Amino acid sequence: MKDESRLSVLKGISLDVTAGEIVSVVGQSGAGKSTLLHIIGTLDKPDSGAYEFNGSDLTGMSDRKLSEFRNKEIGFIFQFHHLLPEFTALENVMIASMIGGRKESATATQLLEEVGLRERMSHKPSELSGGESQRVAIARALVNSPGLILADEPTGNLDTENSNAIIELIFNLRSKYGKTFIIVTHNEEFAGKCDRTIHLQDGLVTAISDRKELKIPTQANNV
Ligand SMILES: Nc1ncnc2c1ncn2[C@@H]1O[C@H](COP(=O)(O)OP(=O)(O)OP(=O)(O)O)[C@@H](O)[C@H]1O
Ligand SMILES: [Mg+2]
Repeated sequence: MKDESRLSVLKGISLDVTAGEIVSVVGQSGAGKSTLLHIIGTLDKPDSGAYEFNGSDLTGMSDRKLSEFRNKEIGFIFQFHHLLPEFTALENVMIASMIGGRKESATATQLLEEVGLRERMSHKPSELSGGESQRVAIARALVNSPGLILADEPTGNLDTENSNAIIELIFNLRSKYGKTFIIVTHNEEFAGKCDRTIHLQDGLVTAISDRKELKIPTQANNV
């Protein structure tokens, strides 16, 4: 029987991302941006195709191996920060680091300082502004030192001033640590600043704007 509920969301996408790049993904609602990010983040599996990360083929990897890989290599930032409300900023970042196998608080503290929250570490999410909460979420995404950070509309819930602060922070983190970012955004100005912009429409790449002019740092430091 034909499965009438089956929907083809992504219809043949080929994408190579270089370490240290900041790539934006744009397109109308329903174009498949989040689906693409979930596949890159190994939260969803494609029905067909291949996925290679730093030379390793992830295509046939077991779920257990994939989740190990994901915890180590990929950081996620979402539109809504999804912080745990009963824990402080520091604890929220530390919990993520414990999942990654760390037992100390030094990295979490360093990252919260880095995102400008030195004075706010012991505050709970209800005591933080939207922009501050999103900065905690960025520190959380970085705490296991992933090479790749995936962000789904990270400024979608913020006013212009806070959006600009988050954008600046992302570019600074790339310059300092050489992290790779793939960012879904409806913010045209932000998208236009990235090294490349992937334009998606109905599950297809319709254009790629490339503005890489050796902006990628050659020496990447590690967090
Ligand atoms: N779990 C799901 N089951 C069925 N269809 C889904 C599922 N998730 C997404 N879709 C469909 O896939 C298509 C692409 O969705 P996706 O969330 O990737 O779009 P998007 O580009 O991120 O949109 P937006 O800008 O609104 O976030 C949409 O038509 C959506 O309805
Ligand atoms: Mg989406």
